[in-house]
Amino acid sequence: MNTDNHRKELLQKLSRNFMISVPVMTVVAMAGATAVSDHGPGLIPSAEAGQGEAEGEAHSEAEGEAEGKSEGEGEGEGEAQGEGEAEGEGEGISEKMKAAVQRPSDYQPHEGDARALAEKGKALFSDTSLSTNGLSCQTCHANGAGYADTFSKDYPHSVEMAKTDFGLDQVTLDEMVQVCMVAPMAAQPLEWDSEELAALTEYMRVEQENFRQR
Ligand code: HEC
Repeated sequence: MNTDNHRKELLQKLSRNFMISVPVMTVVAMAGATAVSDHGPGLIPSAEAGQGEAEGEAHSEAEGEAEGKSEGEGEGEGEAQGEGEAEGEGEGISEKMKAAVQRPSDYQPHEGDARALAEKGKALFSDTSLSTNGLSCQTCHANGAGYADTFSKDYPHSVEMAKTDFGLDQVTLDEMVQVCMVAPMAAQPLEWDSEELAALTEYMRVEQENFRQR
């Protein structure tokens, strides 16, 4: 019981840290786009702290949504300032990568036994060789950590990171796997017809069930 609580606490801390990198990117991008707007001083300090070249053209299309999101992102702000290194990588997601995380028109997923796929996906989930930065999915998502509440909804649905960084209004589950491959994992998307993608997607279905039952 005690150790359980302790673990939960650690995980929450961990996930909070990771959650922050996303809001920070958003805040920085928004501050770039709306620095002179009426959001008050709240945004400015973290914008300065995090300011690299993040607010360039890549994010200018976020301007329209920036208003609506700013209150929601607020929670990350306070702690965001120390996170200098986290936001660099997400800022420059190319149009090509944005397209590459979306199902292709000739999408033909690998098919296989769901159980066997989930089993494989579970192994891949902790495989750091999928990323270019030493992370595995597990680094952020161990024991159900690191997900926003949207994870409990049926797919397709809207996910903050997919919207902010990739401009996608809605994602399917396999697209969400690809989003996490590209952004937090700093890797190429998996092949759309690969067993790996099918396996990770199937395992995420299992994890979604667990998440719903928490
Ligand atoms: C550096 C941390 C990090 C890593 C590594 C990571 N993710 Fe995520 N993931 C996140 C964050 C942050 C969110 C929440 C995004 C949001 O709600 O805007 C998330 C959300 C998700 C979601 C749920 C989205 C929803 O519906 O709300 C899935 C599924 C997911 N990740 C799968 C994966 C998979 C599969 C991997 C490995 C290939 C992975 N993640 C690696 C940080 C990470």
